[in-house]
Amino acid sequence: MNNAPENRDPRIDQAAVTDESLLLAHEKFLGKQPDEKARYRLLPLNLLFVFSGLIFFGATYLGRYSGHFDPKVFDETAPRGAAAAAAAPVDPVAMGRTVYTTVCAACHQATGQGLPPAFPPLAGSEWVNGSEERVIRIVLHGLSGPIKVAGTDYNSVMPAAGPGSGFNLSPEKIAAVLTYVRQEWGNSAPPVSVEKVREVQGQVGSRGPWTAAELEPFAQ
Ligand code: HEC
Repeated sequence: MNNAPENRDPRIDQAAVTDESLLLAHEKFLGKQPDEKARYRLLPLNLLFVFSGLIFFGATYLGRYSGHFDPKVFDETAPRGAAAAAAAPVDPVAMGRTVYTTVCAACHQATGQGLPPAFPPLAGSEWVNGSEERVIRIVLHGLSGPIKVAGTDYNSVMPAAGPGSGFNLSPEKIAAVLTYVRQEWGNSAPPVSVEKVREVQGQVGSRGPWTAAELEPFAQ
């Protein structure tokens, strides 16, 4: 194939014209030696290294310090990491107060004084401040028959409030409400843990309301 420049169709050359070929064509026409300095050159290799380095640095910097572009990174007071995880669980006393108001207060009253002779008080009650084994059972399954609270006799029925009952309180809510009543109105007994409520629930299973006599073994 004859591909010598003089035999080529100039229109093809024109279509494929580049800056480089244009310069060359002019130099040829002017009878000049090609000017090496006027040529386009590849990006110098060391400059390429500098740019790559900058991009690498920039990406690493953002990866490390951008805070995932979360606006909260500017809130210095927001709890972070372990502190945020520790702050998440709800306060059992606050949760217990809500449960008490919605479930127990109807009978035992907001003041915890009860409504004698129908509803015994929780304030100053030896049942509330006594054994957690016993008071957990009362809330889980209910209580019926004669009892004595702070020197006064009662004989009525408290319905079950545990899981599966009408109130269907979870072990978390039972632990919270008992923790609440054991520190409210001048009561002072240690908190009741969710684990303990679950343990008692697992031991007993489902049953009807307790009597005072049946709870005797759990009084301590
Ligand atoms: C429908 C009314 C009613 C509701 C609701 C109720 N109770 Fe009772 N509660 C009673 C009655 C009545 C007794 C006494 C039962 C008896 O005479 O044998 C009692 C007894 C008790 C006792 C033992 C006696 C005492 O005064 O300390 C505790 C503790 C107790 N309830 C806690 C609670 C808690 C906590 C709740 C909420 C989760 C609750 N009760 C909800 C009616 C209720």
